[in-house]
Amino acid sequence: MQPHEELLAEILIDEETLQKRIKELGAEISKDYPDGNLLLICILRGGVPFLVDLSRHITVPHMMDFMAVSSYGVGKRESSGFARVTLDLQTDIRGKDVLLVEDIVDSGHTIASVLQMLETRQPRSLKVCALLDKEERREAVVPIHYRGFAIPNKFVFGYGLDLDEYYRNLPFVGVVDLNKYKAPE
Ligand code: PRP
Repeated sequence: MQPHEELLAEILIDEETLQKRIKELGAEISKDYPDGNLLLICILRGGVPFLVDLSRHITVPHMMDFMAVSSYGVGKRESSGFARVTLDLQTDIRGKDVLLVEDIVDSGHTIASVLQMLETRQPRSLKVCALLDKEERREAVVPIHYRGFAIPNKFVFGYGLDLDEYYRNLPFVGVVDLNKYKAPE
């Protein structure tokens, strides 16, 4: 994998801006869920850095769990339109206030599929918190109750978003330089 500096066209959202917004979201969520029945569900793997930072700013008692769905493969950027569960929750969500935590909503198919599936398990409430919203790409209508940033339709990486599985660790969201990036064979 090339060094990320070589692949970076521009920093779209820098670390300070990201963290400031995540702190605001944490405060808003803390205010909206005062009674300690909140379960954060992180959709692996992109949502992990956001979940960790967001959770630190949520001041009310809350639980967390993880699930994984597959809709993309390495090097493929088009959605299959249907997300299959590859790792299910450990928690019974019935009666809980569930908040899905996602790094990005793109076509919307992942969130739409997960919402549809979780609704059948009868949570008390079911909402979505997404750090990034690439509105232009939307194909499925999905609610985003807490949104970090609306972003343009650019190939982004960092802060949970991978570039061929690398660079989820970067503390900022960057745009890939398509003149320099070589997609895997
Ligand atoms: C990304 C992201 C969302 C989904 C959004 O996950 O984390 O889950 O795509 O796209 P959509 O709105 O078009 O469905 P990805 O499938 O790349 O897996 P990852 O989180 O493991 O990188």
